Parts: sequence; structure tokens; C-alpha cells
Amino acid sequence: DKAAPTIIVIFGGTGDLTKRKLLPAFYNLYLDGYLPEKFAIIGLGRTPLDNGAYQEKLKEGLGEFSRRGKPNEEQWEHFKSFITYLPSDVNDAASYQKLKEHLDHIDDQWGTRANRLFYLSVAPQLIAAVATNIGKVGLAADAAMDRIIVEKPFGHDKESAIELNRLLTRTFKEEQIYRIDHYLGKETVQNILVFRFGNALFEPIWNRNYIDSVQITVAETVGVEDRGDYYEGSGALRDMIQNHLLQILCMVAMEPPVSFDAEEIRNRKVDVLRAVRRLKPEEVHMYAVRGQYAGGWLQGKKVPGYREEKGVNPQSNTETYAALKLYIDNWRWQGVPFYLRTGKRMQEKTSSITIQFRPVPHSTFPQSKVGSLIPNRLTINIQPQMDISIRFIAKRPGLEMNLQPGEMVFDYDKCSTQTPEAYETLLLDTMQGDATLFMRADQVEEAWDVITPILETWATRDSLDFPNYAAGTWGPETAEALIAGQGHVWTVSPHLF
Ligand code: BG6
Repeated sequence: DKAAPTIIVIFGGTGDLTKRKLLPAFYNLYLDGYLPEKFAIIGLGRTPLDNGAYQEKLKEGLGEFSRRGKPNEEQWEHFKSFITYLPSDVNDAASYQKLKEHLDHIDDQWGTRANRLFYLSVAPQLIAAVATNIGKVGLAADAAMDRIIVEKPFGHDKESAIELNRLLTRTFKEEQIYRIDHYLGKETVQNILVFRFGNALFEPIWNRNYIDSVQITVAETVGVEDRGDYYEGSGALRDMIQNHLLQILCMVAMEPPVSFDAEEIRNRKVDVLRAVRRLKPEEVHMYAVRGQYAGGWLQGKKVPGYREEKGVNPQSNTETYAALKLYIDNWRWQGVPFYLRTGKRMQEKTSSITIQFRPVPHSTFPQSKVGSLIPNRLTINIQPQMDISIRFIAKRPGLEMNLQPGEMVFDYDKCSTQTPEAYETLLLDTMQGDATLFMRADQVEEAWDVITPILETWATRDSLDFPNYAAGTWGPETAEALIAGQGHVWTVSPHLF
């Protein structure tokens, strides 16, 4: 569906996110016919630029970052008429007044009051101030039409997240606030809910009686790139687990929602976070492993260690890898380990979820015929490969009764439609006022609560053996030990069966 007349205001309009993600997403929405006729993008930034120069900058970004590559000239000529640039200073009250006048002027021209979306692509320490300033000039007043979109990180720990939420809700009502976790916009992640609740097949066995363990892996081959400054104060636990991996965990573990209503879905997700067992400080070493990459070889290229990266302290103890074993204390999941891991400079870029089922309760077939009677496994590959597969046991064709594993696969590559980027989905949702895939304040706070004991314990121990894994590997050896205790191995690893 098309959205109502909409104006998008991007704070940080000259930044990387706008060029790499936001503009390509809007352009693709435009090409796919999802943008309303009355539509405007206003980029805000300190650099003095005129509209033409700003549009040109964004056009270059499209060529580089859009899934469709360089724009077609005729289409771009039309699309660029939506884009204007307003030089402004986020710390200066006059800039907000100027913005308000600009927005009112557009409304006058259109003869209608447009929805206004304020996208905050600014440094985290500026979020609260920008939101407050937007409110001061009356731009947050209409709860149904004015929305604010906030990028992570939402705070640095639980206290700062609560404080940020408190400051935001002084100006905006909770239903006006869209906290982005771009993983929730990924096609394959959204499919978890459809797969679970659109089929009668899986839900009856989606519990401790049939599921032995769950793994969630988000492995990246990139290092910290040019984000050393940010990453030094963050680390893998804050950067990835607090948000992306815990959100995926919620989708896998939540109870069936009554409807696909934003509050209902978010209530069920927050239930999961509440039920995740909190670790005691003395348990942390048994449930959490951290690592930091040394230099090494990746896809035939020599890459530096984390401590040699730009903006990184040469003695840094920031983790670039984290693995956790979590338990969810409710009826459905009692005793089922959930293994979460993420790391930079790993051997392969892959994000996947593995649901490992229990073995058959009784072996019907003679041991000699069984071959490898391995238990069923459901794998959801999130990216870059996108598929869902089920491993099952079948008879090997032939006159004898021999068994072997087979696979049933739902492969996105075989679908005729192109898969949209996460930001396309999420930006369209914000325009349509659908907050289902966005994080509510309580979710963010609970997620911080889950990792707080680990953060605190890690902060107190400084005698670390870092770096402890070479770039181009699957992380520190201690991560293998973390899950070997229960007889498990990471499913994507050199130890794969
Ligand atoms: C971001 C993190 O949220 O997600 C980055 O800050 C990380 O460190 C990125 O690289 C991964 O996103 P994607 O979509 O490339 O898997």
C-alpha cells in the first residue's frame, strides 16, 4: 500500500547511512511504486551544499550501494525532485525554527498536512537533544502524524537506555518512536514468524520435548573498518548481541501471538527476554566467551589485527567476538540451551539459525543399516545465503534398507521476486505507521538487562589473553569448549559433521 503524503527529515543527511542505506531504500520504494505522490526528503547537515550538489552526492551513492545499481537517468530526474537539502546545526535552536517553516511551507504547497518522519542518523549522544529540540518548535505535536526514527545504539547499558527512553518520551509518545534494529527488516528474519505460525507442522514440536538446542550465528568477515572509535566503546556484546541476536532469539522462542498486531508481537517478544535466565557474576565464565582477532589471512588477503586498526587502542581489551549459552526459564524451553555467537573477521560471512531436534526415541532399524542416523535439523540461513532447510533421514535408493540424511530446502534464489533490503521494509513500515518490527522501550531495556551481568563481569577482569583468535578463523577455541560441555558443536565450523 502507498503511504499518505509524507516528508522525511534526515538529521545526518550527509552521513554514511543516508548514502548507503536510506537513499537506496527510498529509491527502490519509489521504483516499486510504494512512495506517495506527495513525498519529500529533506537532508540536514552542517556542510554548506545546494540542492543540486546534495542530489548529486546521493546519486553517486545509489550507483555504489543500491541493489539495482546505477539509476536510470529519466527515473532519477523525477526522483531527485523529491530531495532538498537544508544546511543546519543540530545544536542550534534557529535551525529547528527554520526547519519548521520549511515543513509548513511544503504543507501549504501541497494543500494538506503531511506525515512527518524525523530520522535521527546522528551520534548517540545527540539523540536526546535533537528530539527535545524537535519538540520545542512543536514538530512532535501530532501523535498520529509525527514520528521519530532512532538508530542504535540505544544507550550504552541499562541505565543509559532507561535515561534515553525517558528523555525521548518527554517529547514523543511511545507510539511515535521507531527504534530501528535492521535485522528485523531482513526478509529471512521476518519469515521466522510466518514459518512458525503460518504452518501447523512446526508449532507442536517447537519445544523442549523435541528440540535439543538452538544456535544463532552472525559471523562477519569484515573487521571494524573505519569505526574503530565507536567500536572501542562498544564491542561485540553491545554492538550485536544486545540487539540483533537477542531479537532473533525472541522470534525463535516467543509464544504464538494472537494476532500480527505490533503490541501483541512485542509483548510476546518481551516475555522471552524476561524469561532469559540472568547469570550470576561467578557463572559468567561458564556461559560467555569473548575474543579479539589477531592479524591473519582472509580470502587470500592479509588483514591486520584489531589492535592495529585505525582508532583502536594498541592494548585494547574490546571483544570482537562473543559467544553465549543462554537458558529460557519457561515451560516451553526449560533446559534447552540457546547458543549465540557473533564475531568479526571470521572465516565466512554467514548468519544462520539452527534448530537441532532430539534423536529418535527408539532405533527401529538395525544398527548396521543405520549409517549416520543423525537427528533432524532445521536451518534458517539469514544471509548471504537465504534459505530454510530441513535435514531428515531417508532410505538410500537400492535393494537394501540403508539410511542416509537428505534435505528439503526452501531457497529464496528460486523465487521470482527480488528480495528487498531491510531498510526498504522498515522505512515503508515507518511511513505506514506500523511498529511491529521496531523495538519498544521495554524490549531494549530487558535486552540490556540480559547482558548486564556479562558486561559488568567482563569490565572487571583485565588480565585477558587478547588477541585470542586469528582473522579468518571461527573464533577462539574456548568457544568450542563452551558448547562441547553439552555434547554440542557449532554447526558452521571446521568441525561440521
Ligand atoms: C550493525 C553493527 O548493527 O550491524 C555492525 O553495528 C555490523 O558492526 C552490522 O557490521 C552487520 O549488519 P549486516 O546487515 O551487514 O549483517
